[in-house]
Amino acid sequence: MYILAIETSCDETSASVLKDGRKLLSNVISSQINIHKKYGGVVPELASRHHLQNINFVVQEALDLARLDMKKIDVLAVTQGPGLVGSLLVGIMAAKTLASLYQKPLIPVNHIEGHIYANFLEHPELKPPFLALVVSGGHTELVWQQGHEKYKILGRTRDDAAGEAFDKVAKLLKLGYPGGPIIDKLARQGDPAAIKFPRPYLEGSYDFSFSGLKTSVVNYVSGHQVSGAKRTADIAAGFQQAVVEVLVNKTLQTAKKLKVKRVVLAGGVAANSALRRLFDEKIRGTGLKLFYPSLVLCTDNAAMIACAAYYKIRNRSPKYRREMLEFKAEPNLELA
Ligand code: KG4
Ligand code: ZN
Repeated sequence: MYILAIETSCDETSASVLKDGRKLLSNVISSQINIHKKYGGVVPELASRHHLQNINFVVQEALDLARLDMKKIDVLAVTQGPGLVGSLLVGIMAAKTLASLYQKPLIPVNHIEGHIYANFLEHPELKPPFLALVVSGGHTELVWQQGHEKYKILGRTRDDAAGEAFDKVAKLLKLGYPGGPIIDKLARQGDPAAIKFPRPYLEGSYDFSFSGLKTSVVNYVSGHQVSGAKRTADIAAGFQQAVVEVLVNKTLQTAKKLKVKRVVLAGGVAANSALRRLFDEKIRGTGLKLFYPSLVLCTDNAAMIACAAYYKIRNRSPKYRREMLEFKAEPNLELA
């Protein structure tokens, strides 16, 4: 079975062809970073305009790399939300047009669900139940996935998402956009213990909060002479260490409490090298099994959407059986 998926929820125009749920034939990602970076963040109007310019080429390239034409595709899938409405609309319109022209079923997929399912592409042994930590530019959620399409959101951020905090701190330090990968790289030259930023644990709750930590970085920068690459690297490392410790400790405490056997990382921040390292370290000897996607599948891509759609077909989801050209873009779509 060949699935062609389209993802345009933010600033990446992506299309992918997946064979039989696991064999990735193509995963084309056209990034708009160069367009948005001079503004220090994604400009929604520019994002949708560039999706519109790129979508046909990206879809065609995904088909070409898979050596298939539209007639060979069995099912289409597309991100329905959450995301920027103008960006989502471009992908959805492209998918609906192809679906009606070639008479193919079309499956709408939740973007967050896609991030979680990126793990199924590379880990055949993974199956629910598990605890997922979803950390991206717009989301920080602890999700208890009890079965396919059975999600329970245990906690979420009360303010900034983890990726958003990385991006804001990078902006403050004048490091560029997107901040996550830049801080990740710079932090390797810094000392994570040189500056002790607060660890916001919100005891007794599964929620997260990163805006206080961000403010303490702001206060540190305005209260000290921050000059020189070493000091900036120490701030980056100290901030990153605080975020990563909170994410790892809260996730592992929750996994223990729920008595789950598997922990899954998902979303752009799951690409963070310090986060992956600390999870690897702390999970050792606990009996828990940790899963995370390869780097390219952590950040936005259409392969993860194709994979989530595959499981919806396999599990006879109502999302697959419904009249599928009816759905709308849902910028605030919830997982559960
Ligand atoms: O999942 P994603 O591509 O888009 C959303 O759904 O939001 O995540 C993007 C976020 C950005 O905030 C970016 O700075 C962050 O993921 N990110 C990272 C790393 N790579 C991307 N954060 C920390 N370390 C990284 N290596
Ligand atoms: Zn994403």
